[in-house]
Amino acid sequence: MTNELDRVRDHYRATGLTERLKTVLAALGPADQLLTPQQLGTLDQFHTRGLAATAELAQLAGVAADMSVLDVGSGIGGPARFLAATYGCRVTGVDLSAPFVEAARYLTERTGQSGQLSFQTANALELPFDDGRFDIVLLQHVAMNISNRARLYHETRRVLKSGGRFATFDIALGKG
Ligand SMILES: C[S@@+](CC[C@H](N)C(=O)[O-])C[C@H]1O[C@@H](n2cnc3c(N)ncnc32)[C@H](O)[C@@H]1O
Repeated sequence: MTNELDRVRDHYRATGLTERLKTVLAALGPADQLLTPQQLGTLDQFHTRGLAATAELAQLAGVAADMSVLDVGSGIGGPARFLAATYGCRVTGVDLSAPFVEAARYLTERTGQSGQLSFQTANALELPFDDGRFDIVLLQHVAMNISNRARLYHETRRVLKSGGRFATFDIALGKG
């Protein structure tokens, strides 16, 4: 298991990511100018079909303003920022990659959403939250990195409120 976590961390090590993002984003204007989640949409959604897939999943899940959402494997925070901007909900993101979490916090400052969103480094198999804390758990293109699915879905279920919803989009193998 430790080897798997190390391999995943290595795969998403993203050395100097935040500094590189600052360089790229300079093209959109000065650093004190707020950006919209839509402006970042081509670079901050790490899954097939990008922002369109996040929008569809959120609609299917029935995200609403008074909800507290957990995004497991939140990457650099694109889906979380989109959900908060679109629905007004609070979103917490957790990711194994510390550089991704740092980049997620930076981009969230740039969109002016830091009051609505928080990101922390954590393992999806040991979520640092009490039981029954969230209305919705989002999981997009993350289970593919985790072999212990039973533990992953157990943790997901544990942190959901009774009647809460699990919304997932991932690569799956089926017939054909
Ligand atoms: C393909 S990216 C998807 C990121 C984000 N969900 C998105 O759609 O933009 C997969 C993410 O899962 C994270 N991840 C993989 N295994 C994890 C684990 N055990 N715990 C937390 N995050 C994990 C990776 O660090 C990476 O950020």
